[in-house]
Amino acid sequence: MEVIIKKDQSTASVYAARLLADVVKVKPHAVLGLATGSTPLGLYRELVRMHREEGLDFSRVTTFNLDEYVGVAPTHPVSYHRFMNENLFDHINVPSSQVHVPDGLAEDLPGHCRAYEEAIRNAGGIDIQVLGIGSDGHIAFNEPSSSLGSRTRTKMLTEETRKDNARFFDRLEDVPHHAITMGVGTILESARCLMLAFGGNKAGALAAAVEGPVTSMVPASALQLHPRVQVIADEPAAARLALKAYYQQALARREETGR
Ligand code: PGA
Repeated sequence: MEVIIKKDQSTASVYAARLLADVVKVKPHAVLGLATGSTPLGLYRELVRMHREEGLDFSRVTTFNLDEYVGVAPTHPVSYHRFMNENLFDHINVPSSQVHVPDGLAEDLPGHCRAYEEAIRNAGGIDIQVLGIGSDGHIAFNEPSSSLGSRTRTKMLTEETRKDNARFFDRLEDVPHHAITMGVGTILESARCLMLAFGGNKAGALAAAVEGPVTSMVPASALQLHPRVQVIADEPAAARLALKAYYQQALARREETGR
């Protein structure tokens, strides 16, 4: 894993946006895996700026989002589809026919999940997958104990995740108990992963994911098995990394010498 520590969330987000933009520039028909939550907001803001001010072109990209709440309509204020429209899709030139977010209202959930996997395969697979990390170590909604080989499916959320996400709802009771989520196995098939972690409440989960054992109890630790992962963290999220100084030296050296 390449661990990149930046002084704050805003610098880290701009750095991540540049990596993503480079993928789109080299491959205009790239398939992007996208995430929701507070973590990627700065990244999306910077991509919107690059589109407006620098003409970054999304007209040929295809996108797949990681997850969506079960029982929530795409237009509902808390839906991840609406979040993506408001924070990214409405402000760039990606055609809506090339955007994929799991459908929380799908009647046949297992069938919908299978079709989602098939759509990813038919698009040629995900070129770069953006990920956040939950304070419990989840990626997407793969909660602790998720199979490291899991595919897109419905998953029950932990109370920790429901509490973390309650800020988007009027009351904790309103937070859905289930979500559709790409599996850990689905995520591991992406050609490249970009995991972002910001804030001190992610420090424990990030250290466990990057430096702990690979275990389903920390689903993000499965990324250790992936050949091409970049972790971009701010200082508070990186605070508990044992090899923090090494990652910083390695980054400084790469920036200086290209190696
Ligand atoms: P957050 O969530 O970005 O809102 O902190 C991250 C996650 O749960 O994956």
